[in-house]
Amino acid sequence: MAAPYSSSKAGKFVSTISEIAQNREDAAVKAQLLEDEQNRENAQSWGAAVGLQGDKITIRGGIPLIGRIELKGAKNLVTKAMVASLLGESPSILKNVPNISDVRIVRELLAVHGVKVTDGPEPGELLLDPVDVESAHFAAIDAHAGSSRIPILFCGPLLHRLGEAFIPDLGGCRIGDRPIDFHLEVLRKFGAVVDKQPNGIRMSAPNGLHGAKVSLPYPSVGATEQVLLTAVRAEGITELKGAAIEPEIMDLINILQKMGAIITVDTDRVIRIEGVERLEGFNHRALFDRNEAASWAAAALATDGDIFVGGARQSEMLTFLNVFRKVGGAFEIHDDGIRFYHPGGDLKPVVIETDVHPGFMTDWQQPLVIALTHAHGVSIVHETVYEQRFGFVDALVEMGATIQIHRECLGGHPCRFGQRNFNHSAVIAGPTKLHGADIEVPDLRGGFSHLIAALTAEGTSTVSNVGIISRGYENFITKLRLLGADFDLEG
Ligand code: EPZ
Repeated sequence: MAAPYSSSKAGKFVSTISEIAQNREDAAVKAQLLEDEQNRENAQSWGAAVGLQGDKITIRGGIPLIGRIELKGAKNLVTKAMVASLLGESPSILKNVPNISDVRIVRELLAVHGVKVTDGPEPGELLLDPVDVESAHFAAIDAHAGSSRIPILFCGPLLHRLGEAFIPDLGGCRIGDRPIDFHLEVLRKFGAVVDKQPNGIRMSAPNGLHGAKVSLPYPSVGATEQVLLTAVRAEGITELKGAAIEPEIMDLINILQKMGAIITVDTDRVIRIEGVERLEGFNHRALFDRNEAASWAAAALATDGDIFVGGARQSEMLTFLNVFRKVGGAFEIHDDGIRFYHPGGDLKPVVIETDVHPGFMTDWQQPLVIALTHAHGVSIVHETVYEQRFGFVDALVEMGATIQIHRECLGGHPCRFGQRNFNHSAVIAGPTKLHGADIEVPDLRGGFSHLIAALTAEGTSTVSNVGIISRGYENFITKLRLLGADFDLEG
C-alpha cells in the first residue's frame, strides 16, 4: 500500500525541486563565469599576438572623430584565401593582408601543417609555400581549439592533399549556436568519412573526393566556401544551390580561378564547379574590408565626426550606404575611398532587417546601433542571421540607452528564429544621451560598438577585453589616435 501523503513529504518534494533549480542556476552561473574567464584569456592572447600593449581602454567621450584612415583586405576573405593556398602545387602571394589576430591564428595553423608562411617585401604581403604539406601533430592543432572558425575550412584541402584531416573544437564570436552541420553534410556528400571525437573531428577520404549536388538550406557563407574549397579539386562536377554570394566569396572565386579552377556563377544562387587535377599558387590583392569600413562610418556618424575611409568602395557597400543616408549620415564617394560624415541636423530612426548579401550585413548592425540611440524616434533592428547578436546591448542600457530586446520578428518578415524563443529583435528609442560606464567587450563587432558608445558618452568609460577587437580591426588603437580620440590604454 502506498504511504499516506504527508505534508513533510510535500515539503521535501518542494525543497528538492528548489534545490534542483538552485543547482541548475549555479551550474549556469558557473558555466557563464568559465566562459567569461575564457573570453578574457582569449582577449589577452589575441591582443598580444598583434602587439597590443594592454587590454583595457579608458575613453573620455564627446570628441568627434575626424581624419583619414586606411583599410586593408577583408578579414573574411583573407583568412579563407590563406586556406586556399593549401590547394596549390606552387607558392602563393597574398597582398593587402591586415595585421589582425585571426590572420595570426590561420598563419600558425598553416605552419603546423607544413606550409611556410613568410612576409613579402610589401607591407601586408604574405608568401605561402604549401609544397611540403604534412599531417600535423594532434597537440599542435589542438592548441588552436576554440580560437577561430577557420579550421573547418581546412578539411577539403587537407583531404585532397593528405587523405585525412583533424579539426579541433571551433571558436569564433559568441553570437549564436553556430553549428557546423552544413559543413559536415557537404563533406560527406563529396565522400569524406566524418568521425566525431571528444575534442574534435577526424576525417578521411578513403576513396577520394567526388563532385556532388549540394543544396544548402540557408545561404551560409562558411558552407559555400567549404563547397568551393573542396569541389575545385574533386573529381567531376559539383552543383551548389542556395549559395551565399557575398563579395568576399566572389573574391575567393577570383583567387581559385587564378589557381586554375573552373567555376561558373549562375543566377539564383547556383554555382557550378568542374573539378581539375591540379591547381597552382595565386598572386592576389585582397578585396577591402567592407565591415571595417561600415564600422568607421558608424563611428563618424555617432560621434558627429568626419572620417575618410581610404580603400572603401561603393559597389560592395550599396545597402549600407542607403541605410546610412536614411539615418541622416552623409557620404562622398572618391576614387580612393569614401568620406563618411555627420552633416548636421537630427538623426532619423530606421527599420533594419539583417540578411545575407545583397541585404544589410549582420556585421554592420552592432556599430550602427549607437547612432540609432541618438536618432529622434523608434528604430527597429531585426537580426535574422545570428540568433544571439544582441549580447552587446546590456552595456548600452547601462550607459543610458533605451533598448528593448524581443523574441518576436519585429519590423519585417518572419525569420528562422521567430518561433524559437530567441531574443533577436531590438527596439531602440531615441534620442538618448549615453553616459560613461565600465563595460566589457563581448564579441568582435559588439566590441567595436562599445568603443563607439564610449567615444560618444558623456564622461569617462573603461572598456575591457579590447584584445577581442584586434581579431578583426588592424591597428584600431593607432587609428583612434589619428582620428583625435581622447583615451589611455592600460594593461
Ligand atoms: C561568416 O561566418 C563570417 N565569418 C561572419 O563574420 C559573418 O557574420 C557571417 O559569415 C555572415 O556574413 C567569417 O567569415 C570568418 P554563416 P560564417 O555560415 O561563415 C547558420 C564577423 O564579425 N549555419 O553564413 O560562420 C549559422 O548558425 C563575423 O566578422 C548553420 O546552421 O556564417 C548562422 O545562423 C561573425 N549550420 C547562419 O547559418 C552551418 O553548418 C549564417 O552563418 C553553418 C551555418
